[in-house]
Parts: sequence; C-alpha cells; structure tokens
Amino acid sequence: MRVFVAGGAGFIGSSLTQVLLEAQHEVTVLDNLSKGFRGLVPEGARFIEGDLRDEEQLRGWLRGHDAVINMAAFIEVGRSVLEPVLFAENNIVNSVRLLEAMHKSDVGKIVFSSSATVYGTPKRLPISEEDPLGAQSNPYGASKVSTEAFVATYNSLYGMDAIILRYFNPYGPNELHEPETHAIPNFVTSVLAKKAIPLYWSGEQIRDFIYVDDLARAHAAVLGLSGLQYFNVGSDTGSKMIDVIREITDIAGYDVPIEDLGVRAGDVPATYASSAKLAAATSWRAEVGLREGLERTVAWFRAQSAK
Ligand SMILES: NC(=O)c1ccc[n+]([C@@H]2O[C@H](COP(=O)([O-])OP(=O)(O)OC[C@H]3O[C@@H](n4cnc5c(N)ncnc54)[C@H](O)[C@@H]3O)[C@@H](O)[C@H]2O)c1
Repeated sequence: MRVFVAGGAGFIGSSLTQVLLEAQHEVTVLDNLSKGFRGLVPEGARFIEGDLRDEEQLRGWLRGHDAVINMAAFIEVGRSVLEPVLFAENNIVNSVRLLEAMHKSDVGKIVFSSSATVYGTPKRLPISEEDPLGAQSNPYGASKVSTEAFVATYNSLYGMDAIILRYFNPYGPNELHEPETHAIPNFVTSVLAKKAIPLYWSGEQIRDFIYVDDLARAHAAVLGLSGLQYFNVGSDTGSKMIDVIREITDIAGYDVPIEDLGVRAGDVPATYASSAKLAAATSWRAEVGLREGLERTVAWFRAQSAK
C-alpha cells in the first residue's frame, strides 16, 4: 500500500514508519518538524517538510496514496490548558483540513491516533470500546473527542474507511518530547542521571504501558480493515508507577531517591485496556512485556546520553 503518515517524524510516527517499510509498504512522511526530528525518519520513506495547515499543497501531496495515518498533533496536556485555541486549530481544524483534502484527492482510508483520554475517568476496568466517552478536563482530550467525531462524519458522509485507535500509554525509543510530560522517559532519564524521581500518589496510580513497536504494528494490522471501527491499543495489563520505577532501577543496577509530591487533583487513579477487539479483528497481539520494553528503552536512552 502507499501510506501517508502525517506526523511521522515524531516519537510514535517514526517507529510506525519503520514497521510499515519492513512490511513492504511505500511510505510518505509529512511533518512540519515543530516537534519531530528529520533524523528520526527512517531511510526508505519519502519525506515532505510541510504543514497540515497548507490546504493548497495537501491535495497534491496526498494524491496517489491508499491510506493516511494521522499522528500530527500537539500532545502536551498542560500546554493545552494554556493555549486551547492553538490545540483546537492544530489538532481539530488541521485534521479536518486533512480529511477534506483526502476526500478531494480520492484517498479513501484514514487511521486516526486517538487516546484513552476519551474515556475520561473509567467506570469499570478494563476499558472496552463499548464504554461511554467521559467528560474531558483539558483541551487536548477535547481535541481527541472532537477529531474522532469528524473522522466518523467523513465515514458517514463519503464512506471513508475510518479506523480510530485509542492508545493507552506508549513508551520506548525515539521519545524525545520537549518538554517531556510522560512518566517512563522521565523516570529513565532521572535514573540514568542518578537524580531523584518526583512522584505523585506514592506511585500507586495504575496505567497500561504499551511498547511503541507493538503500538506501531497495530497500525499496520488495521490497514486492511474497512468501515468505521474503534479499537483500544494497550497491553491488557495495568502496572503501578512505583513498580515501573522498581523495574527501571533494577535494570540500571542501583536505586535513586523518590521525591514524594503527594496527591494531584484531576488524575485518574487507574486505567487499563482490553484490546481483545483488535486482537479478534486482526492477528495483532502486544508482544513486548514491560520488563523487555523497559530494558530496550533504558538501552536507547543510555546510548542517547553517550552521544
Ligand atoms: N505519546 C503518547 O503518549 C500518546 C498517547 C495517546 C495518543 N497519542 C497521539 O499519537 C500521536 C503521536 O504522538 P507522539 O507522542 O508521537 O507525538 P510527537 O509530538 O512526537 O509527534 C507528533 C508529530 O506531529 C508533527 N506535527 C504536529 N503538528 C503538525 C502539523 N500541523 N503539520 C505537520 N506535522 C505536525 C510534530 O512535528 C511531531 O513530529 C498524536 O496524535 C498524539 O496525540 C500519543
């Protein structure tokens, strides 16, 4: 297939591009490098430095592709509270520009990067796709709920195949966000620097960590599906933050102090997914367990710090 990856120079998009190339797809990466890095785009992909805002060019860039995977978005929850208009513009409006350009260029399939955040505070665990969407406490979450609705609308209006993947907590190599707001890269870099780890809730919060290559393979697995479909992508396992830290320090071979930050309002105490629906619809399974994923992640960050 000829696959167009918007946001493919970022953390997840770069792993995804590698997985698609290995599966013999032809890949075009579009990224404005606002948050991504040219050096993360694997060799073998065609790279366009460009912006989803550019409606004029977008149609030409898209022409001839069979599917689009839309990863391009701003992702920092805290910044979204300070700059809601920017997030609405980049995450929602630019996605609608992309959908409209796809429609006009006869590209009939989209895979959209959504998030577990759409469920809000879950009513039951594990979370399944039938569970209701929850209230959103920040514009980033609202942007994912809204964009899901636009993607579904293009399915309803034009029969566009629309696969919505709700990621749980991705981690792994190539995570170079600035600022970094995610737990695992921050834990790993603190441990490697032998610095204290700031921790809320004494690390009792439970999250579903999915290794980035497993997540990337989920996109390749759904490329053959059609219609409007929603899938969770997680590991089916909830892990306490404190246990993740214990694994990382065990891998490093030494302990670091924990800086107890107490409780933080608005945090969801526990989320983890059932990905059974995706496993039933495709041959996909999460293959990399937490220990192995953390070993690879620590090795990658160690190599980065040695550069
Ligand atoms: N990382 C996570 O924990 C997580 C969890 C759930 C969902 N997601 C979603 O997955 C997607 C990828 O996340 P990520 O962690 O790889 O983020 P990232 O910031 O590393 O990658 C996003 C990429 O999109 C690019 N981009 C942003 N706006 C653009 C625009 N207007 N035009 C062209 N390129 C643009 C950035 O330069 C960046 O390379 C996002 O949609 C995010 O909301 C991420």
